[in-house]
Amino acid sequence: MRINNKELKNNLVFAPMAGVSDVGMRFLCSYYGADATFTEMLSAMAMEHNSSKNRLLTLTTDAEKIKVAQIFGKSPEIMAKIVNDESLEKFDAIDINMGCPAPKIIKNGEGSALMKNALLASKIIKACVNSSKKTVSVKIRLGFDKIVATDFAKMCEDSGASFITVHGRTQSQLFSGSVNYEEIAKVKSAVKIPVIGNGDVVDRESYLKMLGTGVDAVMVGRGAQGKPWIFSVLQGKELKINPYEVAKKHVEILRKYFDEKWLKLYMRKHFLWYLSGVKCASEQRVKIATSNDIEKSLAVLKSIFCDNDFENK
Ligand SMILES: Cc1cc2nc3c(=O)[nH]c(=O)nc-3n(C[C@H](O)[C@H](O)[C@H](O)COP(=O)(O)O)c2cc1C
Repeated sequence: MRINNKELKNNLVFAPMAGVSDVGMRFLCSYYGADATFTEMLSAMAMEHNSSKNRLLTLTTDAEKIKVAQIFGKSPEIMAKIVNDESLEKFDAIDINMGCPAPKIIKNGEGSALMKNALLASKIIKACVNSSKKTVSVKIRLGFDKIVATDFAKMCEDSGASFITVHGRTQSQLFSGSVNYEEIAKVKSAVKIPVIGNGDVVDRESYLKMLGTGVDAVMVGRGAQGKPWIFSVLQGKELKINPYEVAKKHVEILRKYFDEKWLKLYMRKHFLWYLSGVKCASEQRVKIATSNDIEKSLAVLKSIFCDNDFENK
């Protein structure tokens, strides 16, 4: 599979995740083998109003091999304008979010609500494709309340999308139940453009199951939280990772751009994710969850991963 004429070597992609896919995470996932990384979804409307927050969300590093910026919205005119925004110049592709299930997004007719409105969805894709020289792609779910993914994917292809990503659940499922591999396979067979399969990939077993659908590449989201090295694990590489060192690098990258006040609150969840899977660490978890000091939180991680004889599993 190629994006903007760049070949994906491992066919592994790091997912767009609001509040998670920061520039540090994207650096680390790329370092461990993700070929392509997506920004979290950016509001076309907010960009239209020149939101400074979006400028921080579009930070990238040279480690990212294929950079994809994801936008959401419902106005073909605004989105067609935003794809040419200066802040998106460095990206290889612009992805349109048609899968977000969050109530505040679907209430506005955006995200996965567009899967109930194929006509408008098509207008948005065509407007972005016509206005931009960049690769335009779409990320979808299987449908809103019923499965429509095959027809919807064909519409995306006919409207000019260069590839699509399918999360194998409907909007109404949110994150419940298991991913529907059969429907992802049907989408892959229905279109000629590349398809990225997404949902519940957390280890080699789930990765091979996703590959079994015939998709061209696999996207990983939650499986990379606190474990950006998952992209090496999925390739079958044996690694000895020290999560403390990875967390320290994560902080080092974010510190270049973000102030300490924001960072100490933001990093809490990531520190807790770096700790996940460690048994008997409830006291350390409380320390991190209530800490207002990044160095102290890093020291907690260090005490677990360096001072003890921790074997990463
Ligand atoms: C906290 C969180 C934030 C997310 N934000 C986005 C987003 O900004 N854009 C998007 O297309 N999907 C978003 N998603 C969905 C993921 O990209 C992915 O489709 C979903 O988590 C299923 O993949 P996974 O099982 O590998 O996590 C988000 C998911 C989570 C858990």
